[in-house]
Amino acid sequence: MTKKEQIYKCNVCGNIVEVLHPGAGELVCCGQPMDLMVAQKKDKGSEKHVPVIEGSSVKIGKEEHPSLEEHYIEWIEVMTDEGVCKRFLEPGDRPVIDVSGSVTRVRAYCNIHGLWES
Ligand SMILES: [Fe+2]
Repeated sequence: MTKKEQIYKCNVCGNIVEVLHPGAGELVCCGQPMDLMVAQKKDKGSEKHVPVIEGSSVKIGKEEHPSLEEHYIEWIEVMTDEGVCKRFLEPGDRPVIDVSGSVTRVRAYCNIHGLWES
């Protein structure tokens, strides 16, 4: 049984999906079950990925995460008391987002280091 807002990844082709409506079925891609992604919440080493929330502004990493062709934040999802805001980024884009409303939760996805949450 899936749960709303869970994120699954196919380790064969790289498909990533988010559950918008839970169901009893198992999510399968490329002939095998997809992996439930568990967000990391604490940085270790020099990489900075934990979303930093300052009022209605969010940035990824206390020291801003790189935004290079080979290593960048693909998307940021911000939950607020008004709803959900998701921004898809390209290499070169700063991993920052301003939203309206009070931020309750943030998730971000690094193309190398995976899913992060605050
Ligand atoms: Fe990273």
